[in-house]
Parts: sequence; C-alpha cells; structure tokens
Amino acid sequence: MGITSINEVFELLKDDIKSVEDELLKNLDSEVQMVNEVASYVFKSGGKRLRPVFLILSSKLSGYEGNRSIVISGVVEYIHTATLLHDDVIDGAMYRRGKKAANRVFGNDITVLCGDFLYSRAFVNLVKDGDPEVQMILANAAKTMSEGEVFQLVKTANFDLTMEDYLKIIFSKTAILFSSCCEIGAVLSKSDKDKRENLREYGRLIGLAFQMSDDILDYLGDENKTGKKPGTDLKEGKMTLPLLLLRDLIDDKEKKNLKEIILKEDPSEDDLIYIIGLMKKHNIKEKAEQFVDSYIEKAKEKLQIFPNSTYKEALIYLSEYVIKRDR
Ligand code: IPE
Ligand code: IPE
Ligand code: MG
Ligand code: MG
Repeated sequence: MGITSINEVFELLKDDIKSVEDELLKNLDSEVQMVNEVASYVFKSGGKRLRPVFLILSSKLSGYEGNRSIVISGVVEYIHTATLLHDDVIDGAMYRRGKKAANRVFGNDITVLCGDFLYSRAFVNLVKDGDPEVQMILANAAKTMSEGEVFQLVKTANFDLTMEDYLKIIFSKTAILFSSCCEIGAVLSKSDKDKRENLREYGRLIGLAFQMSDDILDYLGDENKTGKKPGTDLKEGKMTLPLLLLRDLIDDKEKKNLKEIILKEDPSEDDLIYIIGLMKKHNIKEKAEQFVDSYIEKAKEKLQIFPNSTYKEALIYLSEYVIKRDR
C-alpha cells in the first residue's frame, strides 16, 4: 500500500497547499500594479510547489501542527520564483510553466526588478515570522543560490568541466533550497540534532537528483510535459550530467564534434539532433538515471531514523518521483 502517486501526496496536503496558494497571492500587495501583475502572471501559470510540499511534509514528519509552515512555504516559493525570473532573463528562456516566459511578456528590465521584489517581499515575511534559525537558513540559501548561478556562468562552454564542479553548481543553484526546506521542517518541529541533520542531508540529495533529472529532461524530455523548450542548456553552453557522461564515453572523433558544438555561440537544431542521437546510441538516459538513482537511494536511507507515518511514505514516494517525473 502506501502512497503510489503524486496526486495522493497533493491530496494528503490539500488544505495546506490551498493555504500556501492563498499566501502566495495575498502578499502581492505592491502599490505599483506592474509588480503585482508580473508576479501573479508567474504564479497563475502553474508550478509544482514542490519546495512547500517538502517543507510541510518534513515538518509533519516530526509532529508539527502549526501555521508557520504555510508562511515559510510562501517565503520559499517567492525565493524560488525570484530565481526563476532571473534565470529566464539570463538564459533568454522562451517558455516557463508551459506559457511564454515573463521576460518575453514584460521585458528583461521589469522581470529582473520583479524578481528583486519577490526576494525582498519574501524576507519581509521571514523577518515577521521572527525565528533567527530559519532566517539564517534561508538567507544563506539565497546567498548560495546567487553564487551558484554566477559560478555556472563562469563555467559556461567549459568542455572539460569536472563532475566535482558540476555538483558544486547544482548544489548551489538548486539543492540548497530543497535542503533548507527539509531542515526548516526539523526546526519547526523542534527535532533533535540528528533528525535535523538527516533532513538537511535528505533535502540536499533530493535537490541534486532533482536538478540532474531536469538536466536529463532538457535533452531527452517531452516539451509538452516539461513546459520548457528542449535543448535550452546546449544553447546556453551548460555542461550538464547527460553531456558529462556522454563526453566520457565517446571516441575521439565524436568528442571533437561534440566539443565544436559546445563551443559554438549559437548551436543549430541539427547540432542538437546530432547530440541527442549520440545520447541515444550510448544509452545516456539509462546511465544518467542509474547515476541519479544512487542519490535517491542514499536520500531514502536518511529517512530511516523517523517513525513510520503517511508523511514518511509521502517523502519516500517523492524521492522516487524526482526521477520518474516528466515535468
Ligand atoms: C525549476 O524548478 C528550476 C529547477 C531547479 C530545475 P521546478 O521544476 O520546481 O519549477 P516549478 O516551480 O515547478 O515551475
Ligand atoms: C535551475 O537551472 C535554475 C534555478 C535554480 C534558478 P535551470 O536553468 O536548468 O532551470 P530551468 O531548466 O530553466 O528551469
Ligand atoms: Mg534556465
Ligand atoms: Mg533546466
């Protein structure tokens, strides 16, 4: 038995997620209407709200029953959305959540500044919540995420990127926020040091696996499901997991071709098709998924110290979902 679908997870948290949605729209209270317009455009476009789900489940795992998990989920989702707005400007993204990316609707300048608004609005609510431990976790996460995005840019079109640097990039830009959400769950429920560390580590491993899956989907996913255009990472010169695995498997001639494409200012559709062909030939999807699986297995081990509950089952299900997801 247990939880066997993502819908069951959302059903379990139905009331909480509804409250988070209200929280997200409630705080769009700028006197400058354009700010509210841009922000509601992104929130109403969809989004999986995965970080709130991890935060709320982690808090319930150790018996937390209060309302702060909703307020802090709003904070986290604002931070996440701010990074998406900024990321889409930097990446020149075409689509986000199946809709035109905000940068294409409102322009780069407004999009960047509205991202700044969401960051700041998040921190107003965090200060109101008044818990220095949670404040420190999220201030540190926001700092690390910006560093991660810069480090990624520094490493653009670096064909020889090491696995170590790749892991550093995805930890900073993505995993730290998942890790923070899970750790905050432990802080809210006043869990002991071991449980807090395990939840932080669980979130880190899940966050890494989540970004790796995103990177696999960028080459080998279905645009209708992801709501993002495939091949975006190639255009941006990002060396991601599927490329790293491919690079280390192919012969010298293929390697030379691949390197030329990565170094191009503007790789063509044919270049993308060539790379996807190589990935299929070398079973990169299976290999990358096996690689991600090892993170998922380690993540699930971190939950062992918690007593059995529906919330634990939901977290175990979500660990698997990260790799099975198609959006
Ligand atoms: C997108 O995150 C950015 C990455 C870390 C890959 P999500 O896939 O969680 O985005 P939404 O919120 O569901 O749109
Ligand atoms: C994740 O990286 C972005 C952030 C964490 C801000 P990507 O650039 O891969 O995210 P997508 O694919 O655009 O959602
Ligand atoms: Mg992007
Ligand atoms: Mg991506």
